[in-house]
Amino acid sequence: MQKLALVTGAKGGIGSAISEKLVRDGFKVIATYFTGNHECARKWFDEKGFTSDQVTLFELDVTNSIECAERLALLLETHGTVDVLVNNAGITRDTSFKKMNATQWNDVINTNLNSLFNVTQPLFAAMCEKGGGRIINISSVNGLKGQFGQANYAAAKAGMIGFSKSLAFEGARSGVTVNVVAPGYTGTPMVQAMRQDVLDAIVDTVPMKRLATPEEIAKAVAYLASDDAAYITGETLSVNGGLYMQ
Ligand code: CAA
Repeated sequence: MQKLALVTGAKGGIGSAISEKLVRDGFKVIATYFTGNHECARKWFDEKGFTSDQVTLFELDVTNSIECAERLALLLETHGTVDVLVNNAGITRDTSFKKMNATQWNDVINTNLNSLFNVTQPLFAAMCEKGGGRIINISSVNGLKGQFGQANYAAAKAGMIGFSKSLAFEGARSGVTVNVVAPGYTGTPMVQAMRQDVLDAIVDTVPMKRLATPEEIAKAVAYLASDDAAYITGETLSVNGGLYMQ
């Protein structure tokens, strides 16, 4: 039977590469997009030539716990369970901490960290009851090493790792694995929005001297989603070209 994967932030750089890879691996993908972004999500769906057997577009504000509980309960009524959950939705609001305001802090914590509660909580029990599942949380090299101008983002991305290790304990007996992929600087609109001189200086510090491609991140996610990774849980897989070695 075709397995079901839910990917949040699925039309962004890394999210779309993950969705496309999972479709190629035979999953049906529920691709969530932020409220109001339907046109953009539909354009991606049409450009990729997906069929409705491959991808379902699903509007979801991952910062809204009530909406997530209601919409994901309906999803479970239709599908029974989700086999693979990829918590990928994320934003940046980079600024030095002296200048950071509460909105920049809260927006990043809500979207990048509180979303893990909002999206995972409604799905986790059903995964355990079914006796198997995969949860893959997309963190960042900067959640591991910190970064000037990213106190909010690094806090959220580091928090994802503690969350994942804790949930890994709770899912282990039921065969539900919970892992993290920590990408380095990747060729996505988020990274391309950085000041070019700052980005060039960072790339120069990467031992491989280049950005990751979104597809390279997607392959790591697909591995953790596969049957081959059944005994890996609570782990953080870095895909960062050597930028930070734990
Ligand atoms: N390292 C050291 N010092 C820095 C610095 C840095 N990276 N950036 C700025 N400074 C210094 C400035 O030179 C300045 O010093 P002076 O006061 O002596 O002039 C001081 O810090 C304050 O600088 P700014 O007022 O310019 O700081 P700012 O609030 O405008 O923000 C910043 C600076 C734009 C955030 C900059 O630090 C920056 O671009 N940092 C990198 C952020 C980054 O890596 N973002 C990644 C986005 S993509 C992503 O996040 C994906 C992923 O997972 C990897």
